[in-house]
Amino acid sequence: MLSTNAQTLIDREIAKYPADRKQSAVIAALAIAQDEHGWLSEPVIQAVADYLGMAPMAVYEVASFYEMFNIKPMGRHKLTVCTNLPCALSGALDAADRIKEKLGIDFGQVTADGRFGLREGQCFGACGDAPVLLVNNKAMHCKMSHADIDRLLEDLK
Ligand code: FES
Repeated sequence: MLSTNAQTLIDREIAKYPADRKQSAVIAALAIAQDEHGWLSEPVIQAVADYLGMAPMAVYEVASFYEMFNIKPMGRHKLTVCTNLPCALSGALDAADRIKEKLGIDFGQVTADGRFGLREGQCFGACGDAPVLLVNNKAMHCKMSHADIDRLLEDLK
């Protein structure tokens, strides 16, 4: 379930911790596995657990706690909109409504063609730049007007 490349990347993370603490790399390992598979299925979680010598449930607990991890398929492009209070007061809910309207989905859903998934996010540390959204946990887009959102969705198609 983990490619040679993923194992190499995980080994690099493991090396950052004492030899008897390789489970400390679980968050990094899950991120690497998710990059490879798109989401963290049970077999992927099992593979990460085996690689780190952890109980699968302990790895699942981490995967299900952090919102950047997908424990179900979230489409090719997962859009996460920060809806915490500072952003909500600065147009985040309106931006989210625009995305919902354009894609025909609600939070937690994926478009029928599997291209887009939408989630609510917690503070990204960019409260002054609301509305803020993340694409696939990697690319942050700030001050998203309706026109910006329309353009982004078109670019990601
Ligand atoms: S509250 Fe949204 S980025 Fe901080």
